[in-house]
Amino acid sequence: AENRQGANSYKKSNAANEAALIAEAVEEECTDSVKVVGGEDADAHAWPWQVYLSICGTFYGMMECNVCGGSLISDKWIVTAAHCVPNAPRGRILVGAHDLNDNNYFSYTLGEMKKHPRWNFPGRFENDIALTQAANEENFYIDWSVSTPICLPHADNCFSPETTCVVTGWGLTAERGSLADVLQVVGVKLMSREQCTSFTGYERIADTMICAGFTQGSHDACSGDSGGPLVCRMSAGPAKGAWVLHGIVSWGYGCARPNSPGIYTHVQSYLDWIKQMTELEPDEILKVEGSSPDGCMTDIDYSRSEE
Ligand code: ARG
Repeated sequence: AENRQGANSYKKSNAANEAALIAEAVEEECTDSVKVVGGEDADAHAWPWQVYLSICGTFYGMMECNVCGGSLISDKWIVTAAHCVPNAPRGRILVGAHDLNDNNYFSYTLGEMKKHPRWNFPGRFENDIALTQAANEENFYIDWSVSTPICLPHADNCFSPETTCVVTGWGLTAERGSLADVLQVVGVKLMSREQCTSFTGYERIADTMICAGFTQGSHDACSGDSGGPLVCRMSAGPAKGAWVLHGIVSWGYGCARPNSPGIYTHVQSYLDWIKQMTELEPDEILKVEGSSPDGCMTDIDYSRSEE
C-alpha cells in the first residue's frame, strides 16, 4: 500500500491502511448496523493514542461508574470529554489496551480531571472537553508501537465536509447493545454545518461542535465512546498522512440512527485552553501552505500513486 509517511512516520502505517480500507468499506456498503456501531474490531494497537477510562464518582448527584474514551496528547496528558467527569472522580486509565480481557495494557490510577471552565454553558453540552493526568502526574508509557500521542490539529488546518475520519472506542456496539471488549473502529464522514443543523434536535449546535456520520445512520459512536478520539488525516502538506485529533466524542440522539449524526467537540476551538493548561501546542509541521483551493483536507486518494 502506498501510504506516504510524512513527518509522523511513527504513526503506524497499518493504521493508515486500515482506515483507508474502512473508508472504502463505508463508501461501498453503508449497510445496516452490525456493530462503536457499524464498526469492526480494530487492528491491535493501530490507534495507539486511544485510552480507556473507567471513572467512578457523583454524576448529577448519583454515585456511578462509567466508561469513557480519551486520547493521549503527550506522555502526561489525556484529552477527554467534560461530561465524563463526575464530582470527586476516582478510577483507572488504561493505556495501550486492545482486548480488555487479555490484561495486556498499562494501568494507571486516575489523577486530577480538569473540565473546561465553561463546560455545559449555557446548558447544551457546550465545551465538552476535559484534560486529565495519572495520579501524581505519573508519566504514561509511550511506545511507538503501542501507545503514542495523537497530534493536536494546527490552528490553520481545516477538513472538508464528506471527508472520512475515524472514531474508536469500547462503547456500545448497538444502541441497545453491550460494551465492546475489543477496541472498535468505524469510519464516519464529516458533515457540513448546513446539513447537520437541518436535522431535528441539531438546529442549535454550537460553533465549537462538529458533526460526523451518515444521513442514513448505521455507523456512529455510542455510549461509552464519549471522550474518545475522532481522528482525521492530513491530506496535504509536509505531514501528509499524519493523523490529527479533530474531534472528541460528545453526544447524539441514540446511536447510528438515521438523521442523527454524532456530535463531536471541535478540538481546534480549544487550542488556547489546552496550551494554557498543558503548555502543549500543535506541531508546526502540520501547517499547510498553498495546497488545495480552499486549503482544506479531503480524503487521501489512495489510487493515485505519488513520488
Ligand atoms: N454521550 C455518550 C457517552 O457518554 C456518547 C455519545 C455519542 N453518541 C453518538 N450517537 N455519537 O458515551
